[in-house]
Amino acid sequence: MSKVKESIKVGVIGATGYTGSELLRLLLQHANVQLSMVTSRSDAGVSIADYWPNLRGRCDLTFVLPDVDRLADNCDLVYFATPHAVSMHMMRELMNRDVRVIDLSADFRLRDIPLWEKWYGVEHACPEVVAQAVYGLPEVNRDKIRDAKLLACAGCYPTAVQLGLIPLLEQSLIDPQDLIANVASGVSGAGRQAKVANLFAELSDNFKAYGVSGHRHLPEIVQGLDDVSPEKVNLTFVPHLLPIIRGIHATLYCKPKDFSIDFQSVFEQRYKNEPFVDVLPVGVYPETRSVKGTNVCRISVQPVEDSGVLVILVVEDNLTKGAAGQAVQAMNIMYDWDETLGLNDIALMP
Ligand SMILES: NC(=O)c1ccc[n+]([C@@H]2O[C@H](COP(=O)([O-])OP(=O)(O)OC[C@H]3O[C@@H](n4cnc5c(N)ncnc54)[C@H](OP(=O)(O)O)[C@@H]3O)[C@@H](O)[C@H]2O)c1
Repeated sequence: MSKVKESIKVGVIGATGYTGSELLRLLLQHANVQLSMVTSRSDAGVSIADYWPNLRGRCDLTFVLPDVDRLADNCDLVYFATPHAVSMHMMRELMNRDVRVIDLSADFRLRDIPLWEKWYGVEHACPEVVAQAVYGLPEVNRDKIRDAKLLACAGCYPTAVQLGLIPLLEQSLIDPQDLIANVASGVSGAGRQAKVANLFAELSDNFKAYGVSGHRHLPEIVQGLDDVSPEKVNLTFVPHLLPIIRGIHATLYCKPKDFSIDFQSVFEQRYKNEPFVDVLPVGVYPETRSVKGTNVCRISVQPVEDSGVLVILVVEDNLTKGAAGQAVQAMNIMYDWDETLGLNDIALMP
């Protein structure tokens, strides 16, 4: 596998959607990337700068159909920003053509194929490739990402929950059987397809939980936490829908084995060399707007002595650190570039 390339040709499959558009925004500003193919089935032939008004003057490509041969001929690396059960149908051919792939969908995130089939309700079309996929959470497996041919980018909720709990589970500092994650996402997390539940009049001025009895991200989160925890974890995960466009706010509850530990310094030490994880000072709680459009995840640790509970608060932008930004961070690692290349934006405030 060639390394330290100065620039690469990149394709994006599914760029009429939200993570695809976020990928375009980031890749068009990336010094080492030449965007060579961008696909849409519904808008093939349409100018990208006409479709996405923020890209006027920054991109002269038009959408083309997702054709595997053309992608393999024109790209060193292909991103999938497609719904689940799409990439698995094209993966075998792309990998045979020696194209590196970063998949933002869930098709290759779970190592347990029957478990994936149970949660996604379809047979896996490319099971033999699943074992080759590297899970894309740089704070946990940067070394494996470097050599990945197929990178299965971590999901948005799974990124927030794992980054919030991993420092504690790795060192066995909490009861792994008693974990609760209440996590709220902005509406762009649901993608761009038209659905009544996603109408402005349904979402705005409203707040609700969903998928309480089980959500597709639960097995992914548990797989990641089990990987770092010496003992098996048991997690209650309750997702919520927030009436904002971008942003995830996770409130995580766990029971420390020893309350005298300095949890603030556990987090500060664990993330001291991580360019995109910011551990906030004691008593400062994170806000979603502080990470909007950035690849940063901000974390706050708050012991609540009266109840014997440790609360961890995590924010990220679901489209950036939760998807496209994390995918660009992984690309930077895969090509031995500075990990922060193209990801240095400061969040918009207010
Ligand atoms: N939204 C988030 O916050 C978020 C965060 C992390 C991960 N993800 C994951 O990222 C993926 C994309 O999410 P999204 O929110 O960007 O979805 P989206 O807004 O619904 O966009 C989906 C894109 O995929 C294309 N597409 C759909 N079916 C296709 C097919 N069979 N073949 C080729 N292209 C197809 C669509 O374009 P055409 O129909 O025009 O081809 C569209 O551009 C999903 O797997 C999602 O779970 C999303």
